[in-house]
Parts: sequence; structure tokens; C-alpha cells
Amino acid sequence: MSVLVFGAEGQLGQALQSIAPPGLELTYAGRTECDLTDANAVSDYIDRIDPEYIINCAAYTAVDKAEEDVEACYKVNRDAVRHIAECCANRKLIHISTDFVFDGKQRTPYTPEDPTAPLGVYGASKLAGEQAALETLPNQAMIIRTSWVYYTIGENFVKTMLRLMVEKESLSVVSDQRGSPTFAKSLAETIRRIIVQSCFTPGIYHWTDAGDITWWDFAKAIQEEGVSKGLIADTIPIVPIQTSDYPTPAQRPAYSVLDTTKLENLVEQGATPWRHNLNQMFEEFRSNER
Ligand SMILES: NC(=O)c1ccc[n+]([C@@H]2O[C@H](COP(=O)([O-])OP(=O)(O)OC[C@H]3O[C@@H](n4cnc5c(N)ncnc54)[C@H](OP(=O)(O)O)[C@@H]3O)[C@@H](O)[C@H]2O)c1
Repeated sequence: MSVLVFGAEGQLGQALQSIAPPGLELTYAGRTECDLTDANAVSDYIDRIDPEYIINCAAYTAVDKAEEDVEACYKVNRDAVRHIAECCANRKLIHISTDFVFDGKQRTPYTPEDPTAPLGVYGASKLAGEQAALETLPNQAMIIRTSWVYYTIGENFVKTMLRLMVEKESLSVVSDQRGSPTFAKSLAETIRRIIVQSCFTPGIYHWTDAGDITWWDFAKAIQEEGVSKGLIADTIPIVPIQTSDYPTPAQRPAYSVLDTTKLENLVEQGATPWRHNLNQMFEEFRSNER
């Protein structure tokens, strides 16, 4: 079974590479191998590899920068997705999207069928990408929305917190945005299951680790893990603040917990509690440092 992964250098792309299952013929493409904003390069690349599945993990993910860099953001998150889908006449597309397609006004987990209403350019561009994929390939595209992704490789909240916990004497972290952290490897494992269990079914799905917390809760847990694994020497005060105390160019949803039931049923596997996966990330961190 031949599988092409776009976004190979990103967090999810790296996590997929780390679990590369036997029996699958995987090709990983980063920007160097194929710039997704170059339509001819994309068509040529897909023709040459001729995969049965394409997993698109590539995205313009700079949420705040996107507010000013609108055109560049849409080129990757919408136009490139449409073009990849157009090259999928007899292939299956697994495309990754985001909790930022929602406005965060709900107070119960969002199902894949709930109405979308993105608050910023990044969320709107990702929603446009979902629509482009589904319009082009109504019977051959799976959209998987996820949230708060982190991994041992790449830029993310966990690594930023660890760095700041060493550099600073105290930290202020927002405590009024609620969501679910997702270890990239847990999402990679779910994608692997879709392929090896041959349960690919078109439509929109959600996948995150289980449980929901605020960024402040997450920072506290990162500190606990960091101290217990010897990555941080001392604890520092972590002060809960409101979103209004920490203005950013892009507005974030106050609540973006995703209901993962539909995909859990499809792959016959429940989501793992976020705290367990955070612990796993730290174990990997420690073994990488040795
Ligand atoms: N990170 C999160 O918290 C989060 C939350 C919800 C959903 N998601 C979604 O999950 C998916 C994976 O996210 P991630 O965290 O793995 O993202 P990431 O680490 O930012 O990786 C994205 C990758 O896309 C590549 N890319 C961007 N433009 C490209 C282009 N024109 N041609 C080829 N490659 C290009 C980037 O390459 P360069 O490094 O060269 O730019 C990067 O390697 C994305 O669809 C994202 O929207 C992420």
C-alpha cells in the first residue's frame, strides 16, 4: 500500500515518520521535495509517486501572522488543498484541519456536524481547505480536525513553556481558554489505523487526546512533569490570567473541545487521556537527551 505524506518536516509529519508501520510503502515530502504552492510541482510529484493514499499534514500554521499574511495563508491552507484533491482522481485523501473552525461559544464538545464560524484568518483558511477537499472529492476525502498539537520536534506550547520555565522567574498563562492537548503521535497512530485497518470512510472527523483543560492547567502539568523528569530544576509561580490580559492579533476560541466519538468508533480505539500522553512525550524527551 503506497502512502504519500505532505508536511513531512512538521510535528505531525515527524510523528508519522516515527511510527512508520511495516507493510506500508511511505513517501515523505517536505517543502524541499515539493512546494505545495507550486501547482505543477504538486501534480508532477503525485503522478511520480502514484500513491493510493495522500496524508496532508502541511499547513500555514502561524495563527497570528496569518492575520496580515492572508494571501500566503490561503495559498497553502485552501488553494494547495484543492489542487492536491484535484490530483486524487483514484486516490484517498486524509486531510488535517483544526478546532479553530469553531467560534468557541459552545460549552459542550463540538461534534463534526456542529456549525462552523472561525474567528480569524487561519481558521477561515482551514475551513476553506476542508470545503475545497470535500467539494472536489466528496467520496474520497477524510477531514480530521485536531487541537493543541505538540511533539518532541517542532515549535509548540510544551517546548515553549519548558524554555520559559528555565529562563523566567514567573509566568502568566491564560486560564479562560479550554481545549484538549493532542500528542502528535496519538493522531499519527489513529491515521495509521485508518489505513492498516482499511476503515477509510469519507467525511469530517475529530481527534484529540481525551480530557479538556485550560492553557494554565496545561502549563502547571508541564511544570510537574518537567520537574519530576529532571528537565527543570525549580518550580516558578504560574499566574492564571484572562485572554484580555494577553492580547494577540488573532482571536482564539474560548472553548474548542472536540467530540472524538465518531473517529473512535471508526478505528475501534478510544482516545488516550492527555496527561498520559504528556508523560509519554517527556519520556521521549528524556531518552532523546541521553
Ligand atoms: N499545531 C497545532 O496546535 C495544531 C492545532 C490544530 C490543528 N493543526 C493542524 O494539524 C496539521 C499538522 O500541524 P503541525 O503542528 O504538524 O504543523 P507544523 O509543525 O507547523 O507543520 C506544517 C508543515 O507544513 C509545511 N508547509 C507549509 N507550507 C508549505 C508549502 N508551501 N509547501 C510544502 N510544505 C509546506 C511546513 O513547512 P515549513 O516548515 O517549511 O514552513 C511544515 O513543515 C495542520 O493541518 C494544522 O493546521 C495543528
